[in-house]
Amino acid sequence: MAAPAAAGDLRFLLVGLLLVVVVGSRLVRPPDGGGIPTTLDGPFEPATRAFDRALRQGSDDVGSHLTPLDPSTVRSEVWYSERPSPTAAAAGDVSGHYPHVARGKAEVYSQLYPYPGLLNYTSGAIHHVRLRGLRPATRYYYRCGDSSVRGGAGLSGELSFETLPSSAAAAYPRRVAVVGDLGLTGNSTSTVEHLARNDPSLVVVVGDMTYANQYRTTGGRGVPCFSCSFPDAPLRESYQPRWDGWGRFMEPLTSRIPMMVIEGNHEIEPQGQGGAVTFASYLARFAVPSEESGSNTKFYYSFNAGGIHFIMLGAYVDYNRTGAQYSWLEKDLRKIDRRVTPWVVAAWHPPWYNSYSSHYQEFECMRQAMEGLLYQHGVDIVFSGHVHAYERMNRVFNYTLDPCGPVYITIGDGGNIEKIDIDHADDPGKCPGPGDNHPEFGGVCHLNFTSGPAKGKFCWEKQPEWSAFRESSFGHGILESL
Ligand SMILES: [Fe+2]
Repeated sequence: MAAPAAAGDLRFLLVGLLLVVVVGSRLVRPPDGGGIPTTLDGPFEPATRAFDRALRQGSDDVGSHLTPLDPSTVRSEVWYSERPSPTAAAAGDVSGHYPHVARGKAEVYSQLYPYPGLLNYTSGAIHHVRLRGLRPATRYYYRCGDSSVRGGAGLSGELSFETLPSSAAAAYPRRVAVVGDLGLTGNSTSTVEHLARNDPSLVVVVGDMTYANQYRTTGGRGVPCFSCSFPDAPLRESYQPRWDGWGRFMEPLTSRIPMMVIEGNHEIEPQGQGGAVTFASYLARFAVPSEESGSNTKFYYSFNAGGIHFIMLGAYVDYNRTGAQYSWLEKDLRKIDRRVTPWVVAAWHPPWYNSYSSHYQEFECMRQAMEGLLYQHGVDIVFSGHVHAYERMNRVFNYTLDPCGPVYITIGDGGNIEKIDIDHADDPGKCPGPGDNHPEFGGVCHLNFTSGPAKGKFCWEKQPEWSAFRESSFGHGILESL
């Protein structure tokens, strides 16, 4: 009889230990400091540890009575070194382990609706810290956050990233990943997993990051005309905690690989009376080299990645020839030294060349305004998204095959929240009507072709000659200089 009783006691002890592990943080440690108590040490004096209000109640802070954080109460720091810290995981005092520290500032933003039933939001602290004087093609080890929090609890663990090679004709990034219309779906996860496996040294996102503006309003479904489907909605509500979730989803990638973004239509996110305020999340969350490239706005800018000059253009701000973006683009193109950056790659969200029914000729006004300038300066490749499918064009200018025109590539098949695009404008019965595909910014310049096989028509009767390859699937692109 002794053996079964002993086994029973052991089982009880294991259950007791498991319970302690599960609720361990809520138990009061015995005053003698004798380790983690078990239920055998109970019963315990009832005790309550109050919620620390400084922590907020999670990031899903939405509702009508919100108090924004005061960003001036937190430090924004990056401690960094060219060598990994041997004690990084446990180090509370970072100053002894990292020779460099850069300090920046934190900000918060809000998404506010003066309409009943729509959820207001105020963000957590968003930190921006600029690191200067980094050496090219060098790996840096860093921790970020607020070092004034006791025991290093306000700092991240040690992470690392590698800077891009210096601008030179013989120096190229290992690989550049290009992705558009990413979203936060199962397909998005698959895309990011594949992208990370390709080990890029730079990620370029060509707009439509989170689809926060469709999380509540349409149940995730796409609608070709929101105001037609929801005529009583005062504004298209955007559920901002989706951005926080997307940030956490992307962190394993973005904490170690530089990422450049350009705005898409899903970043417009109108708020306030009549939608007077736009792009609040995009502008607060991302840092791009607009100042360094002389644009002074995050809506368009440029940068070098080794021997490639990237130009990121804004389709949802003025793109006309009399506007500030156009004159900035003229200056930026004139400054390019092809001996230093032999390749010029441009990117913006909605494609100019697109043979799918979805968004067909939607940004024809932008093409008519800017195509000549890009052609004149020999832009090599253009990446866009917006259309949820892949399409690669033959070299083209003004809808005519031209060996000096750029190669246009639509890569808007990252994962989105809507659906993949499968209809082609040249499929029987799939040519969009004049009321379809109106842009969310700018005018409508739909045109019938003036020459070639589709002369006099709005849609082709077969895949256009300027469309080299199209495929309705999810994925990302990898750009390599060989
Ligand atoms: Fe889009």
